[in-house]
Amino acid sequence: MTSNGNSPESVDARAVSFSVEAKTLLDAVDMRAQRGQFVGLIGPNGAGKSTLLRTLSGVLRHQEGAVWLEGADLSSMAARDVAAMLALVPQIAPYTQGFTAFELVLMGRYPHLGRFEVEGQADDRIAEKAMRLTETEEFATRTLETLSGGERQRVFLARALAQQPRILLLDEPTSNLDILHQLTILGLVRQLVDDGLTAIAAIHDLNLAARYCDRLVLISNGAVVTEGPPEDVLTPETIESAFGVRSAVYRDPATDALAISLISPAQVNGVSFGSNGSAAAGSNGVPSASRS
Ligand SMILES: Nc1ncnc2c1ncn2[C@@H]1O[C@H](COP(=O)(O)OP(=O)(O)OP(=O)(O)O)[C@@H](O)[C@H]1O
Ligand SMILES: [Mg+2]
Repeated sequence: MTSNGNSPESVDARAVSFSVEAKTLLDAVDMRAQRGQFVGLIGPNGAGKSTLLRTLSGVLRHQEGAVWLEGADLSSMAARDVAAMLALVPQIAPYTQGFTAFELVLMGRYPHLGRFEVEGQADDRIAEKAMRLTETEEFATRTLETLSGGERQRVFLARALAQQPRILLLDEPTSNLDILHQLTILGLVRQLVDDGLTAIAAIHDLNLAARYCDRLVLISNGAVVTEGPPEDVLTPETIESAFGVRSAVYRDPATDALAISLISPAQVNGVSFGSNGSAAAGSNGVPSASRS
């Protein structure tokens, strides 16, 4: 296995590019995550966040650049060795009809089993613990298709935890969750990170990203626009240029976290919006967005 030396990075992507049919989905992306760090990927729909997570997990093979996982070159690692180190919770749960939640979570154990070994009691205990942490024990004997979107999303996280990864990649982990579970699940990831896990998550909710992540990487059009601590990345200027949304950024007195108020789209159909969210004069001088 090739090594990139004594890099402290747990995930180290250098100049990673990925294209399909002449379309560049990732363009020389550099991103790093250290052990015990929670890195958030933010950026508009279609920016390349899922593509980057799939590339870091080896599901997609990048065509240029290099990905190092704990100093090892991903492209020279066997899939099973990657799975013993890293788990990916995909944005869209794969087709898994017919399995119970417990069976799915137990599948997380496969990279740790010998070639002809079946799961034993120790694996059952690990799967049960993963379900306890994600509050999914009550669904253990239910088949996946009977679960709600948020319940299923938590079961897929439980499977990833049962894998006992040192690197956890999460693609929109809170997209289907109610507000209580948004906080408990990200709080759980934060706790695991504080215990030494490396986590990288694509997160649309900027308030949650700011509150739970150590660093944010803003991606747009397949390239990294800026990265750093939430305070540096989440400025009204950056948010407007990346998302086209006017915002206010402040310190929330209740949580002491950085908070973002989304004020209005900067423009809709070419019409500029004022800071109170109402339409300003369009290019023809006519205030035009108050149509209903
Ligand atoms: N096989 C493919 N062929 C063509 N385009 C693709 C292919 N796969 C992905 N794309 C495009 O690549 C871009 C990046 O997709 P990706 O799923 O990484 O975006 P994302 O940042 O995760 O967006 P979202 O916030 O909507 O989840 C999108 O424009 C998508 O349509
Ligand atoms: Mg995505």
